[in-house]
Parts: sequence; C-alpha cells; structure tokens
Amino acid sequence: MSAESTSLARGYAGMPMPFGWFAVAMSGDITTGQVKTLSYFGTEIVVWRGEDGVVNAVDPYCPHLGAHLGAGGTVVGNDLRCPFHHWSFGGNGGVTSIPYTKMIPPKLKRSCLPSWPVSETDGVVYVWYHPNKAEPKWEVATLPACPDGDWVLAEVHDWVINIHCQEITENGQDHAHFGAVHGVPYAPKGEFRLDGWVRRNTVIAEMNTPRGPMTGKIDVTATGPGQSITEYVDVTHVVQSQQVTPIDAEHTHLRWQMYHIPGLSDGRLRVTQARMRDLVRQVNEDIPIWNAKRYMPTPLLVEGDGPMMAYREQYKRYYQFDDNEPDSVAA
Ligand code: FES
Ligand SMILES: [Fe+2]
Repeated sequence: MSAESTSLARGYAGMPMPFGWFAVAMSGDITTGQVKTLSYFGTEIVVWRGEDGVVNAVDPYCPHLGAHLGAGGTVVGNDLRCPFHHWSFGGNGGVTSIPYTKMIPPKLKRSCLPSWPVSETDGVVYVWYHPNKAEPKWEVATLPACPDGDWVLAEVHDWVINIHCQEITENGQDHAHFGAVHGVPYAPKGEFRLDGWVRRNTVIAEMNTPRGPMTGKIDVTATGPGQSITEYVDVTHVVQSQQVTPIDAEHTHLRWQMYHIPGLSDGRLRVTQARMRDLVRQVNEDIPIWNAKRYMPTPLLVEGDGPMMAYREQYKRYYQFDDNEPDSVAA
C-alpha cells in the first residue's frame, strides 16, 4: 500500500492544519548566533538567535536568487546573512545590507522575505502559523504563578506521533478511554468552558491517599490548538506544560515540560516523581493507539463517552482561515 493510500484510509491527509501559536523548539535548542532549519506545517522555517538574544523565523529561500538560508546562512549581529551573495535580513524579513550596492530599494528594506511571528515563553520557542499569514489573534499563555518561589523544571519529554494534532487534544475529552487504556477508575470529568480562544476544564477528584481521603484539583487551560497547561494540586503540586505542533497533517510533535513547587521534602518529592511517571506512562499508553487509528468524522458515541463533539465544534474555529467568512468566530 502506498503512503498516500495509507493516509487517505486514516482520514488525515485531507484535514487542514489549524492556525495558532505552536512550539517549534526549546529555547536551549537555538543558541546565540545559531541558524536552524525546522520542518513544521508541511514546510520549512529558518530560525536564528541574534546577538540581542531574540529568536527570528523566516521562510527558507532567499528572495534574491533562491539560496536556502538554512544551508550556510550565518548570523551577523542580529541579522541573518545569506550564503550566496551576502545579503542580510532582519527578523521582519527586510534587507539590512547588500555588500556590493549602495542603493537598497526601500521596498526590499521594508520586507521581501516572509517572516513568522515568534514568541519565546517559559523556555519554549513558539511561532504563529496561519496559512494566509494572518496576524496572531491571541498571546501565548504563561505558566501559572508558583505559590512559593519558582517552579522547578523536573522533566522534559517529546514524541513524534503519526496523527493529526486535533486528535491528541481530543483525548482529554474521551472519558471512556481513561479506564480502558490507563486503568484509572475516574475520568477527569467536568465539562469544559470557553473563554475567547481559551478552553478551561476544572476537575475536582476525590482520592484516597496514605493520609486518608483528600480532594484533588486538576485545572486544564488550553490556549489555542497548540498549547495547554495542566495544574495538579493534591498531595503533589505539579504543572504539566504541553505543546502539540503539526509537522504536517499526519504527524505531530508533542512536547511536555513538567514542573513542581520548590523545597519539597524527600517524601513529597517521591510522590511528585511518581505522579510525573504516571503521566508519562499514560501518554505512552495512548501513543500506540494514536499511531495506528484513523479519524472518525461521525463516531458512534454513546452515553459516557464524553464531550468530544463539543470539543470538535469548538476546534472548527481554528480552520476558519478567512476572517470574512460569515460564521467566523471572534475572540
Ligand atoms: S541568493 Fe541570497 S543573497 Fe543572493
Ligand atoms: Fe489518554
């Protein structure tokens, strides 16, 4: 079977990629003066970090004579210099210098190389993807306030999964799989609520602990299709920051950073580490199913399945690429 017929059978090839802020690198992956070519959204992006510390992102091909800026391009000051004739570009895609001419046409100075909005937040580099290059509609979310001092970054994970990104975040609304796949007796129930481009879900769960029953709270805040932050407050206090990024319509890069509060006793640290291991175990249980499943546009849902269709209805807004469409959703 050809790759194409496999993708058609799984229903992803024809699905568009949503617009939004998406993680494309961890901050430490792009050091000052470094140029990298990244493959996301079915295309390539060339990123660099200037001497001012700012990360910039542009399309790969030099508008002069078509050199690939990621293949030998270098950082000069804050700009990216093309390897072919040494034109330099600023982060806005404007030409800043041409070594062999005194007159740079003003049009080229303004911008001639398509650039991507970048936000570097909490150690993650995000770009704004929109197929029509529309301006960002919201801001990247930041971690919640740490109750005491600064969050401790304890674990970083990433996975590449053969699935459309919409399906990964649908998993949280799929109540029935929590017992079947993860063996957890309770699904994180609670209908989600919408607030502009943000989807929130608060779950209060009664749980048994060695110290007796206690009430735990799980707060999920998903900002756009590419970012969600989940805060677990019970005997532990853990923040799981997740990003899903389309590599293309059929492959998704999933990233996690997990934090805990500072100053934990040995005992609480052990419980916290066990909680983090459990979350990683759960995603590792989902991945084989995600890698092989297909998209069901009209699934056979029954009582107890969870609000997946409400989630999909809400998700459609990320495919409304034309702001002038009559049913376009405003923030
Ligand atoms: S192709 Fe880039 S400077 Fe000529
Ligand atoms: Fe799951």
